[in-house]
Amino acid sequence: MVSCFHGFRGFCTALVLLSVLYSVSLLYWSHSSVSFYFHRPRPDSGIGFGMEMSSNHPVDLLTFPSPWNHLSFPTNPPQKLLKIAVFVKKWPDGRHAGGLERHALTLHLALAKRGHELHVFTTSSSNFSFPNYPFKNLYFHLSKPTNAGYLDQALVWKQFQDQNLTQSPFDVVHTESVSLMHTRAKNIPNLAVSWHGIAYESIHSDIIQELIRSPNETQTYRLTQKGMKVVEEIKFFQRYTHHVATSDHVGDVLKRIYMIPDNRVHIILNGVDEDVFKPDHEKGQNSRSNYGIPISKSLIIGMAGRLVKDKGHPLMFEALKQIFAENSTFKETVAVLVAGDGPWGARYKDLGTNLFVLGPLQTSQLANFYNAIDIFVNPTLRAQGLDHTLLEAVLSGKPLMATKFASITGSVIIGREYGYTFSPTVDSLKNSLYEVWKDGRGILEKKGKVVRERGMKLFTATKMAAAYERLFLCISNGEKNQDYCKY
Ligand SMILES: *[C@@H]1O[C@H](CO)[C@@H](O)[C@H](O)[C@H]1NC(C)=O
Ligand SMILES: *[C@@H]1O[C@H](CO)[C@@H](O)[C@H](O)[C@H]1NC(C)=O
Ligand SMILES: *[C@@H]1O[C@H](CO)[C@@H](O)[C@H](O)[C@H]1NC(C)=O
Ligand SMILES: *[C@@H]1O[C@H](CO)[C@@H](O)[C@H](O)[C@H]1NC(C)=O
Repeated sequence: MVSCFHGFRGFCTALVLLSVLYSVSLLYWSHSSVSFYFHRPRPDSGIGFGMEMSSNHPVDLLTFPSPWNHLSFPTNPPQKLLKIAVFVKKWPDGRHAGGLERHALTLHLALAKRGHELHVFTTSSSNFSFPNYPFKNLYFHLSKPTNAGYLDQALVWKQFQDQNLTQSPFDVVHTESVSLMHTRAKNIPNLAVSWHGIAYESIHSDIIQELIRSPNETQTYRLTQKGMKVVEEIKFFQRYTHHVATSDHVGDVLKRIYMIPDNRVHIILNGVDEDVFKPDHEKGQNSRSNYGIPISKSLIIGMAGRLVKDKGHPLMFEALKQIFAENSTFKETVAVLVAGDGPWGARYKDLGTNLFVLGPLQTSQLANFYNAIDIFVNPTLRAQGLDHTLLEAVLSGKPLMATKFASITGSVIIGREYGYTFSPTVDSLKNSLYEVWKDGRGILEKKGKVVRERGMKLFTATKMAAAYERLFLCISNGEKNQDYCKY
């Protein structure tokens, strides 16, 4: 490689030395970059943290770039119990809860169970009697909602201040989305907001809505106004100190597009109750016969949730209708189970006797429903936050089929081994349905095992609550003791 000239001995020696040094450093560099590669957390697999975590360099949790669900926190409650203020627009009433409310319920009941003192500031509802929970350390502060259904900010702030003054002050404040508005939330250092839908993420939904709009429907201006909505959010989001992204995608958007500093954005994926949603073959079989599904059916497709346009039911209806018309074998061998209520329930019934419309289900019935199906389909056209029905199906050990939204493909259906994704068009959805049908029960069961294995590492209520607890412990101390912020 290096040619030496007579009479330039010194120069030659130097060249040889240099080249040796160069190749040694190249070797070293390639070696170290390889080992760096292997030491990096591999967020999607949920493994590979071992070496990194066992080293003597603790991880700074506040800048941890992956979902905290990947980490293992102690199962015993911490020595320090917290007094936590929770702001949530609406506390869920059983069957009709949306994602935000279900998140509030699952998370805060789990934290109360671990011994923390929780004060929930929420609206009273004339429609249902407020549930009783077996926790002495869980307090509700109800107030009349505004005409628009929001929390009356002046009122809840007064309730909060009374609590903060008269007894021991709050260690941490948690608001589900903008339940506590930025005008009040600003300058509270020990505050975290969890996002269940931000404007940037809903642009994708609005584009889809516009694409599938039929010519006789009037155009909405939602889409054209959405850009300004994002700009507004970018401005006021800054006023919340800590942000919890409920999906990998939203974590990225908050840091990159909303320009919130990395050490104030934390990804904690949603979790659902693993004691309720779990595989139970026998219950699944019993439910099938209770629903009246003939044993001859070789594929059972399940859908759950509100049966409305935004959830993609017109698309699913059209796809099923076309497939039934063009392939009689499909129609004979497939059963479709539909849980939930909404206008599309009655329409599905008209598709034929292989549609089983169950109406809205209580939680335990819902758990049986997941066990009865072979695959869970969510054709949603409006994905905000991280969809709970997908996670319930995951813990029940069922593969998934869902629309290609970034929150879904980035955190849940991250590869073909977990299920199927489609573009929100009738053709794409039909292709996926045919693919599932051809794959058949055997392949679906295999995928279901893989799905559940990953789900138990990420999407349990226990994982979620442990991650939030650690975040709350960390930010409750201000600048003083940061031990809880290290891992
Ligand atoms: C009460 O129920 C009615 C009808 O079911 C519904 O329209 C209304 O939004 C509900 N109100 C509240 C506060 O939940
Ligand atoms: C709650 O009370 C503590 C102790 O007096 C005080 O430091 C804190 O600023 C109060 N929090 C809010 C949001 O007013
Ligand atoms: C639009 O047209 C479709 C048929 O092309 C019809 O089913 C639907 O009811 C119409 N919608 C409105 C709002 O007129
Ligand atoms: C239905 O589709 C399958 C798979 O593409 C095909 O083998 C079968 O012939 C079709 N049946 C009918 C009745 O079209």
